[in-house]
Amino acid sequence: MQKLLQYGVKLDSVKGKGYALLEPLVLLDQHKIKKHFPKAEVFVFEKIDSTNTYLKNLKPGLKQKTLAICLAEQQTKGRGRFDREWFSPFAKNIYLSCLYPFQKDVSELSGLSLVVSLAIARTLEDFGITKKCFVKWPNDIVYEQQKLSGSLIEVLAETHGACHAIIGIGVNVNMLQEEGRLISQAFTSMQQILSVYIDRNKVCLRLLENLFTYLQRFELQGLNAFMEEWKKADGLFGKVITVRNFNETLDGQAMGINEQGHLLLKTKAGNLRTLASGDTSLRARP
Ligand code: BTN
Repeated sequence: MQKLLQYGVKLDSVKGKGYALLEPLVLLDQHKIKKHFPKAEVFVFEKIDSTNTYLKNLKPGLKQKTLAICLAEQQTKGRGRFDREWFSPFAKNIYLSCLYPFQKDVSELSGLSLVVSLAIARTLEDFGITKKCFVKWPNDIVYEQQKLSGSLIEVLAETHGACHAIIGIGVNVNMLQEEGRLISQAFTSMQQILSVYIDRNKVCLRLLENLFTYLQRFELQGLNAFMEEWKKADGLFGKVITVRNFNETLDGQAMGINEQGHLLLKTKAGNLRTLASGDTSLRARP
């Protein structure tokens, strides 16, 4: 009980009986996940700095051998893109990373983050979140412009045309507005959209299934196989947006992606720019 209180779980003391949970609490089930993915090394932590960092620091022997999945109930140093913090309260959301071996050179992984975004969007669709849910290039999943999920991909280069990718995914599952008040950007969660408490184990299993299916297709057929799906999921197409990256900020109209997954942006001057990375946001109409 003390431990749950420390993790911020809301408890009520009932006279003469002890404590009662004030909200549902289903913890992650390592055995269930291992059973579904017997070939994978599965790590589940109560608390960790970051699931991505954990997989990055795995011993070389373990890294080379297998597919590894790491999940945590809480992250103390959850990382987002552009060195942002990823808010990771205990037992509320999904904090998941996968160490995935590719028989591809690093240079062939362009478009991977888009494929991961599509696998997440597909999973949300499987749980009934269809309308108003879009992918915001390259890696955000938004519902009515509020962030529902994001991914952080880190690539470990190797010799002989192979490499590993650490695919880190955060999905807001049961976090309510009040619980995420420290988050600076607009966000939502599956529970807020569907008005029901969600068992994160079910979401994890479906997410991993979809992710592996999409990654295998990406490995065999490349990004080309996902172009139609991307068009349907693309929440920016035709919209006036701002793109920020490390050295510039650009405004323009989003025109979809090229075959490498780079964003096509038509600037005010009428030039078509191709952007390999960046942070996108819709521009408010004047
Ligand atoms: C973003 O939208 O900026 C990316 C967020 C990625 C968060 C996930 S949570 C699991 C994994 N571990 C981390 O430290 N980050 C990713």
